[in-house]
Amino acid sequence: MIHSDDAAKQVWDLLVAALAVLNGILIPLYVVYPAATGFLPVFSLIAACFFALDIALEFITAYPLGGVVVSDRKAIARRYLRGNFATDAAAAFPGLFLYSAGVFSGGYFVPLLLLPLLKLFKLGTTLRRIGEARVNPAIFRLGMLVFWILMAAHIIACVWILVSGNPEGLAPIDRYIKSFYWTMTTLTTIGYGDITPKGSGQTLFVIVIEMFGAAMYGLVIGNIAGLIANIDVAKSQYREKLDRINAFLKYRNIPDALRRKINDYYSYLWATRKGYNEIEFLHDLPVALKESVALHLNKEIIERVPLFEKAEPSLIRDIILQLEPAVFTPGDYIVRAGELGRDMFFISKGSVDVISADEKVTYATLTTGQFFGEISLLLSLPRNATIKASSFCDLYRLDKEHFDIVIERYPDFKESIRVLAAKRREETESRRK
Ligand code: CMP
Repeated sequence: MIHSDDAAKQVWDLLVAALAVLNGILIPLYVVYPAATGFLPVFSLIAACFFALDIALEFITAYPLGGVVVSDRKAIARRYLRGNFATDAAAAFPGLFLYSAGVFSGGYFVPLLLLPLLKLFKLGTTLRRIGEARVNPAIFRLGMLVFWILMAAHIIACVWILVSGNPEGLAPIDRYIKSFYWTMTTLTTIGYGDITPKGSGQTLFVIVIEMFGAAMYGLVIGNIAGLIANIDVAKSQYREKLDRINAFLKYRNIPDALRRKINDYYSYLWATRKGYNEIEFLHDLPVALKESVALHLNKEIIERVPLFEKAEPSLIRDIILQLEPAVFTPGDYIVRAGELGRDMFFISKGSVDVISADEKVTYATLTTGQFFGEISLLLSLPRNATIKASSFCDLYRLDKEHFDIVIERYPDFKESIRVLAAKRREETESRRK
C-alpha cells in the first residue's frame, strides 16, 4: 500500500502530470500537422502506458479522510471507481489501443486521439495537493489560470488552422504562430480584424470563439484582481485593518502623539508576527492540536526562560496552554506599585524597568528570559514596584488562577520562584528605606 503523500508517489504524480501536459500540447499539433510531429504516436503510446500504470497505482494508494489514512482496499477502489476512474480509463486505454495498433491517420479517429487530453483535468488537483504547503495559493491559482488560457488558446489555434486552411502557403511553424496570434487577439476581445473568416463555416467557428473569448475575458478580469490582492493575504488584511483604525482615530480626533504610538504598535505587530493574532488562531483549534501548536509557538519563550530549563515536561505542557501573548510599547505601564496582582509575566523579547511608585528609583532592568509579577501572586500582597516597558516588549502572561494551580502541582517550581521572589523583595525593601 502506498500513501498519496509519499515523496516517490508525488514524483510519479508530477511525471504523469508532465506527460498529460505534453500530450495536451502535442496531440492537437499532430491532428493538424501529422508529418511534422511523426514521433507523437510513440510518445503517446508511452504516455498511455504510464496512464494505465497510474490507474493500477490508484487502486493501492491510501488516502487521508478526516485526519485518518484510509488503507482499506475496498474503500480505496470504491472511492476511485466513483471518482476519477472513468476519465483516467478514457485517457489511457483507447490511446493504448489506437497508438499501438498504428491507427493515427486522423479522420474518423480524431475524437479518440484527443481522449488522452482528459488527463489534463486532474492536473489542478494533483498540483494543488503537492504544492499546497510550498506555493502561495493565490500565485498557484494565477498560474493555473494562465495555464488553462494558454492551453485553450493552443487548442483553438490548431482548430483554426483546420478550419481556415493555409491560404498564404506558410510553413507549419509560421502558420501556427499566425493562428495563435489570431486566437489571442480574438480571445482577449482585441480583434484587430486583420484576419477575418471566409465562408459560413469559418464565420460560425469565429462566433463561437468570440463568445467563448468574451466569457473568458470576464472570468479573467474578475479573478485576477482578487488573486493579486490575495497573494499576500496577511499584508492586505493588515493594510485594511490599519486603514480602518486610522480612519477611526481621525474621526475621533485622537491626538497626533497617541495616533503615532498606535501606528508604531501595529508596525511592531506586523514586523514580529505579520499581524496575526495567536490567541484568535488557537481558539478555533481542538484541544490536542491547540497543545501541539502552542508548544511550537511558545517554544522560544520556553527556551529563553531559565526557570523552565529544568522543569518537567508535564509542567511545560500545563503552562504553555495558559500563556497569553501580550505586547507593550515603550513607556507603557505593565504593572503599577500598590495594585492587586492578577498575573505574572515572562519576557520573550524586549526589556522593562522595575521602578519605585514615584518613578524616582530604578530597582532593576529585566530583559529576555526573565519574569516579573510573581511576588504579589505568591504572597497575596499588593505589587511592590512599578514596571514600565523601556522598549517594545513581547511578553507572555500567566493569570493568577493558573499560576496557583501550577505551583500547587509542582512544589519544586514553586520553590525556585519563591527563592527569587524573596531575594527581590528584600532588595527592593532595603533600597526603599
Ligand atoms: P510584584 O510585586 O507582583 O510586582 C512588581 C514586580 O517587580 C514584583 O512582583 C517582582 O517581580 C518585580 N521586582 C520587584 N523588585 C525587584 C527587584 N529588586 N529586582 C527585580 N525584580 C523586582
